[in-house]
Amino acid sequence: MEPFNRIKELRDSLNHHNYCYHVLDAPEISDMAYDALFRELETLEASHPEWITSDSPTQRVGAAPLAGFAKITHRLPMLSIVTDTDVAEFHRRVAEGLGLEVDAEIQYAAEPKIDGVAVSLLYQEGRLIRVATRGDGREGEDVTAQARTIASLPLRLLGEGHPQSLEVRGEVFMSLAAFADYNVRALERGEKLLVNPRNGAAGSLRQLDPRMTRQRPLKLYCHGVGEVVADTWPRQHNEMMACFKAWGLPICQEAEVVTGVAGCLSYYRQLEARRDGLAYEIDGVVFKVNELGLRERLGFVARAPRWASACKFPSREAETVVEGIDVQVGRTGALTPVARLVPVVVGGVTVTNATLHNFEEMARKDVRVGDTVRVRRAGDVIPEVVEVVLEQRNSESRPFDVPTRCPVCGGEVRRVEGEIVVRCGGEFSCPAQQREAVKHFASRRAMNIEGLGEKLVELLFAEGLIANVADLYGLRGSLEKLASLERMGEKSAENLLAAIEASRERDLARFLFALGVREVGEATAASLARHFGSIGAIMEASEVELQGAGDVGPVAARRVRAFFSEPRNQSVVGRLLREENTHWHRAATVVRTDHPLAGVTVVLTGTLTTLSRQEAKARLEGLGAKVSGSVSKRTRYLIAGEAPGSKLVQARELGVEVLDEAGLMALVGG
Ligand code: IVH
Repeated sequence: MEPFNRIKELRDSLNHHNYCYHVLDAPEISDMAYDALFRELETLEASHPEWITSDSPTQRVGAAPLAGFAKITHRLPMLSIVTDTDVAEFHRRVAEGLGLEVDAEIQYAAEPKIDGVAVSLLYQEGRLIRVATRGDGREGEDVTAQARTIASLPLRLLGEGHPQSLEVRGEVFMSLAAFADYNVRALERGEKLLVNPRNGAAGSLRQLDPRMTRQRPLKLYCHGVGEVVADTWPRQHNEMMACFKAWGLPICQEAEVVTGVAGCLSYYRQLEARRDGLAYEIDGVVFKVNELGLRERLGFVARAPRWASACKFPSREAETVVEGIDVQVGRTGALTPVARLVPVVVGGVTVTNATLHNFEEMARKDVRVGDTVRVRRAGDVIPEVVEVVLEQRNSESRPFDVPTRCPVCGGEVRRVEGEIVVRCGGEFSCPAQQREAVKHFASRRAMNIEGLGEKLVELLFAEGLIANVADLYGLRGSLEKLASLERMGEKSAENLLAAIEASRERDLARFLFALGVREVGEATAASLARHFGSIGAIMEASEVELQGAGDVGPVAARRVRAFFSEPRNQSVVGRLLREENTHWHRAATVVRTDHPLAGVTVVLTGTLTTLSRQEAKARLEGLGAKVSGSVSKRTRYLIAGEAPGSKLVQARELGVEVLDEAGLMALVGG
């Protein structure tokens, strides 16, 4: 195909897949296949820069940071909305405004009130022209370059029948996951944490350098319009939303059309119950008259429309007093300050503790015992102290001293150069670290010992029944003792022992992860298990050899070596390995050397339909093949799925044998 046509094809295909992923929430291809298409487009555009257009999917990040934000006057002001504590009151006003009876069955579009930043997007003939913040409602700031980095924001509308000019209103927000991710990284780097997702979204959108915006990923939900110039237009809000969706504009999946006060109330209650399970923060519900014609009849009062109302949920922030600051010791010895609070109800849940993350963060917020603080909780995130209410500080308060000794074992506290975290130097003899190690070992993603939760682990330690993970397998003889423990009973004790026995079935990858070596997460553990095949081989491997397994960097390799060189660990692991009937000595799939694929290099391209890319890779590797990312003369087979990328061309040029998916299945025998 001519490069010009291929570029066009790739852009359409990328826009389509972007839409499937972000708007429909139903991706048709893997991330890897998407990346391959993206890279192919980048390569083609690099050789033909004259064909790059501003709405190409590769052009989401402009070249240079801006000097400042230009002001934009909104063509129609961006209004605010009245807040009602009682939906019935809103409905009564609407009915009255329309000259209807109070019991009129008016339809409302009900949507979550997203806690983000209001924006206006201007599309002309389907092309994104500019994006502005709300500002004071009359004048906002031009954040086009920043907003273009939002992956779900279409640079060009899909489909057809677009208005000549369309101003879409919506909310830019940071998902709870992106918020947590950002803060985890900020913690590691010792940078300032984001206070809440809304501030995160506002801060990200106001980065002068759009590349920074991209690193704090944002999302968008569209929920209304400003000025529209169009030949035809829907008559109802929900139809308008359907148009938005068809045009590729992301809309909130939780929206519904409800009838009357009862419908509004039921929506409100249901959404509130699901609030913690949503991937983003909401602070209430917005109800809007669904019929656009009725909206015109209702008009505006002051600076708000008569046809919309916000009903807020209870706040997720509250004020309370710090009674004390406790220092917790984690599995890796990290000391974490935790504020002990006068109990306070936040968003319907009683909060008694809030994390202060680390001593640096605690000092930055200057949290002291006796302070009045704002705490916040959202979703299943650990409650945290947002800020100190300084006006209420007692003049005698003093900053909290960073401990010099571990509060549990009394071991000296160590501060590692370049690390923010302060650690207990007691290492493997610190009871806190031992307890945490057992909790991690038993956890769901590790050995998954059902019923062995935090409380029970602490009880077993306190009763002297266990001192480390190996002791768990010696509990078999202690049924009576277990059954006599507080809140246990015979049945629970039996279940616990059965769960411990069942954990003998876990494979090497899980076992390795369960040991809790620092820097060895699930992926690294799986990679080590696959590469070495047995625990013995891993324990004997040098740092250099360890790095031979994919996904194992020098730091992780050093940690693994250090872990298995430590005499206490050697003794505990030695005991675990002497246990009988366990599956954790060897990897689940033993790498073969006697198969025709042994030592053969295979490359995968395109989308596979019967197997995922990971499964295909695992199956091939299990048979001894090497799966490589690029085609070379040494490649024996190229497996081409659907929509293969440039690798197919390379393979043909080099005369590499190309197989389709059926060929792959024949190779791996399944
Ligand atoms: S509709 C005429 N729908 O809440 C204004 N607003 O004061 C109609 N917001 O900053 C607003 N989610 O950006 C509407 N689903 C939603 C919303 C929503 C969040 C924001 C809006 C504005 C504030 C309302």
